[in-house]
Amino acid sequence: MIKRFLLLSCLLAASGIQAQNAVVQPSAPPEVCATCHGADGNNWDPDTNGKTAGGADSPKLAGQHSDYLYKQFTEFKNGARANNPVMTGMITLLPDEDMRAVAEYFAAQKLRPAFATNTDTIALGQKIWRAGIAAKGVPACAACHGPAGKGLPAQYPALAGQFPEYIEVQLKAFRDGTRANDPADMMRDIALRMTDPEIKAISDYAAGLR
Ligand code: HEC
Ligand code: HEC
Repeated sequence: MIKRFLLLSCLLAASGIQAQNAVVQPSAPPEVCATCHGADGNNWDPDTNGKTAGGADSPKLAGQHSDYLYKQFTEFKNGARANNPVMTGMITLLPDEDMRAVAEYFAAQKLRPAFATNTDTIALGQKIWRAGIAAKGVPACAACHGPAGKGLPAQYPALAGQFPEYIEVQLKAFRDGTRANDPADMMRDIALRMTDPEIKAISDYAAGLR
């Protein structure tokens, strides 16, 4: 944790120098983003063969739909997505005029997917993904995020291969209303009908989708 923040302050200092010298890559993100998301948006540490460089609460951005990413950038900035003070602070480092190009950059990177790890909950996860939970009015995740979790551009993000920890945090944030940037309450309506074990099962299952 401490190491991560030391590294972060070094990068912040470095990016300040970079801006002064006006060495700007129009499509690449500011260097600081790599601390948590990885330079290619995979948050993937080759030294540990894959777990995470920045912690599993920092999502993979590689291969995500660019319109969805762009929407998140604007909403971190205007406060519509305010559930995480870290990103609210970080997004000020991304100039408005670069948002579109940076969204395109991450969308074009190849996803190195995370994995499902809990064999005990795969059956429950698969059931919810494909059929929802009829008794509680939870729709199938596949209806909007696609059968293989690739999402549907532009509105519905891909979830396949995302870190299960991140998915879980987001579902809980939708459930308690701290993340409230989903159009027409789509995700809040769903998450508030789900229990912790159901959220855990679906998060692990989605991480394993390809
Ligand atoms: C200190 C770590 C850290 C840094 C540096 C950082 N982020 Fe993040 N980022 C996070 C975390 C944590 C989240 C999850 C926020 C939440 O829980 O809602 C996140 C979420 C995001 C998301 C939302 C993805 C999704 O699937 O909804 C985008 C897009 C993003 N970051 C882009 C960036 C960009 C661009 C930069 C550089 C300007 C950056 N981040 C720098 C930690 C970081
Ligand atoms: C009616 C359509 C719909 C259904 C069904 C649906 N979602 Fe979503 N979901 C969305 C939309 C739209 C968003 C994007 C919200 C935004 O714009 O920030 C989203 C976002 C998410 C996110 C945040 C992704 C990220 O990168 O931050 C997660 C996690 C998620 N959904 C999980 C699920 C799960 C699990 C299910 C099944 C229980 C499900 N969704 C069913 C529409 C849907």
